[in-house]
Amino acid sequence: MVYDYNEISKIYDDVREADLEVVKFIIEKAQVNEESCVLEIGCGTANYLKLIQELTQADVWGVDQSQGMLNKAKEKCKNAVFIEDDAVQLSRIPDTSFDLVYMVDVIHHIKDIDTMFQNIKRVLRENGLVIIFSDNHEHIRNRLTTKYFPETLEVELKRYQDTPEIIQSLSKEGFKQIDSGVLEIGKDYSYGPKLIEIASKKGYSMFGMISDTAIIEGIERIKKDMLQQPIVYHQRAPYVIAVK
Ligand SMILES: C[S@@+](CC[C@H](N)C(=O)[O-])C[C@H]1O[C@@H](n2cnc3c(N)ncnc32)[C@H](O)[C@@H]1O
Repeated sequence: MVYDYNEISKIYDDVREADLEVVKFIIEKAQVNEESCVLEIGCGTANYLKLIQELTQADVWGVDQSQGMLNKAKEKCKNAVFIEDDAVQLSRIPDTSFDLVYMVDVIHHIKDIDTMFQNIKRVLRENGLVIIFSDNHEHIRNRLTTKYFPETLEVELKRYQDTPEIIQSLSKEGFKQIDSGVLEIGKDYSYGPKLIEIASKKGYSMFGMISDTAIIEGIERIKKDMLQQPIVYHQRAPYVIAVK
């Protein structure tokens, strides 16, 4: 099954928004300010980039391979530079230009992460930081999407790199001070209705990987549980961070 971000761009912002805790973490760890130059790889519709620019006035750049997602990004984040490019090669991104390169919920789409980290190193300035937010395998096993749509588990474990794989690749490419952890986001008490909307609009790429029947059955399970009690999601965000 194919998941087309040009098609998804039409509904992406109905179902996805930047997480403020993640934005605060990125700004604090990289000490982003008005003099910083920041690149987001797989920026999508620029939900994160827009907030980082508004909060810091940094010079922000976004790369994505989907023209549809970039068109939405350009509409809402006028002072940023957006470039259609592939995350692995970053062939249109200048060398030694960024203090921070980050990715949120993108690395699972990338097959050759070694070459990608090589190129991230190329575009980073000396002592620049890379931050990767991506669900690790333990997190995937415990996600509510796995509980309600069990067919997603196998596909997700297959396409998501686990944290040690990301660390190993960063280390191979010569990054230093590699660290990983899980950021506490908090509890979401309105997750039931949200998840129904996300699943019915296929707002997560995992819903492009399972059958429509599996989606309908999962939504029925959510509705049944919601009649008993609100569905609460304890949100956490695994990350890996490293220095050039
Ligand atoms: C789940 S979205 C995340 C968007 C954004 N980071 C956010 O959190 O809102 C994944 C994005 O990665 C982009 N993407 C996937 N593979 C890519 C690649 N090889 N090169 C560049 N962008 C890619 C998709 O087009 C999509 O916009």
